[in-house]
Amino acid sequence: PRSYPTNLIDKDWSNRKLFFRKNSDDFLNLVHDMKLRDDDVWIVTLPKCGTTWMQELLWLLLNNLDFDEALAKDQEIRSPFLEFDILVNEDLERSLRPVEELKSPRLIKSHLSLALLPSQLWQRKNKVIYVFRNPLDSIVSRYYHGVSFGIHYGKSLHQYFDEILANEDFAAEIIEHAYEFYQLRNEPWVYYTSFERMKKDLRGVINDVSIFLDKPINEEPIMERLLKHLSFEEMKKNPTTNHLWERAQIKHKNAGKEIHPFVRRGEVNGYKDELKPEQIEKANACIKKILDNNSVTMEEL
Ligand code: A3P
Repeated sequence: PRSYPTNLIDKDWSNRKLFFRKNSDDFLNLVHDMKLRDDDVWIVTLPKCGTTWMQELLWLLLNNLDFDEALAKDQEIRSPFLEFDILVNEDLERSLRPVEELKSPRLIKSHLSLALLPSQLWQRKNKVIYVFRNPLDSIVSRYYHGVSFGIHYGKSLHQYFDEILANEDFAAEIIEHAYEFYQLRNEPWVYYTSFERMKKDLRGVINDVSIFLDKPINEEPIMERLLKHLSFEEMKKNPTTNHLWERAQIKHKNAGKEIHPFVRRGEVNGYKDELKPEQIEKANACIKKILDNNSVTMEEL
């Protein structure tokens, strides 16, 4: 049985493994039973929604704004991705070790859906930050990421997108992953935002998140420094936020044959000049259906 806040969520999606297609119930059971610490903080997203961007802010706030360490150590080491080891190394034994060995306060990244997160979360009420992004932008971003890692090497973006569209559940998987956390947005331990809001008002998001973590930024020079460190230009040239460590772990035969920078384009609605109009139309129609079913709009998410 999965843990699930049935009093907070109006539909039972607890049996679905949104976005975690790997056949690894053993891993999910380990995650379910994971021992948490009171000061753990979670960053939960779907892939390519601005995770790294938010994660960098969170790590700095949780670590006394230690910019020197942030620039010296790969982000994946400072703040591990929970599913990374099982996805890449398929080694159940050591899958949770990077998180278990991390010093407190731990900042843990996951793409798992709400019901698959550790059951202790519901007792400890660890802080959770969720970042949503327009699915079309995140899918385009996922394509380029996949090319760099070898998985989509040799495939065009249009081909890749058609394959996504062929999966009837693609819109539901994305929207419902976000909608579950959206329903928790007024819980004091949940901070729900979007890539689009971060682009529109990064200062506002930094301010909100710093208060949410009880680490308010009271000095303007510190805010300025954070804004600069988190700017697209700085993050693009920062080796510790470009997932070079992660890329080095990937053993795919086509890995590295065509490389796109991790901090790539960083725009809202960039998909509009990358996808075909008919692909956009079809995807948006699928997404609208799911949004309508859940009585929510893209702007709200
Ligand atoms: P694009 O590929 O559209 O450029 P994630 O960290 O979840 O994998 O998300 C990666 C996406 O976030 C990429 O999107 C990347 O460029 C974008 N991103 C990372 N840092 C950013 C920043 N400082 N400003 C804007 N976008 C950023």
